[in-house]
Amino acid sequence: MAYTLKVNGKTHTVDVPADMPLLWVLRDVLDLKGTKYGCGIGQCGSCTVHKDGTPTRACRTTVAASEGASIVTIEGLAPNAGTLTALQQAWDELDVPQCGYCQAGQLMTAAALLARTPKPTDEQIDTAMNGNLCRCATYLRIKAAIRKAAGTEQPATTPAGRPGDDNA
Ligand code: FES
Ligand code: FES
Repeated sequence: MAYTLKVNGKTHTVDVPADMPLLWVLRDVLDLKGTKYGCGIGQCGSCTVHKDGTPTRACRTTVAASEGASIVTIEGLAPNAGTLTALQQAWDELDVPQCGYCQAGQLMTAAALLARTPKPTDEQIDTAMNGNLCRCATYLRIKAAIRKAAGTEQPATTPAGRPGDDNA
């Protein structure tokens, strides 16, 4: 069956089964590979995209449920090709990724947080980012980058955190 999707501002018509997860439509049909498959059961956050501005697990969202919605993936997070958002710049400056696998999902969740709460408290950051897992334990740098993008950076008294730090 044909479905019309708006992804990163462009309209696409895809002919796929109604229950196909949005994740596979993005990756395998539209060739947008930035959104990653982690667990497939809504538990890790690596497949997070924005659906009408809300962070959404693409592995648990069918194409049928996505029709008519505005979908944004990591490829469309910055409004113009070749540019970075302030959040992405902070990510880059703080060298947040380790292996990188979870990072698209982390960025999409963080971007949605800053869109609705431009200066989040630490508690709001923790709550928003809670469902995005990182096997490399980059949590402290993720939090620092969100603070930096929000303009609420804290004076560095300790390094921003490398794997093996206390990331609880
Ligand atoms: S792959 Fe979707 S939440 Fe893990
Ligand atoms: S950077 Fe490796 S899983 Fe997060």
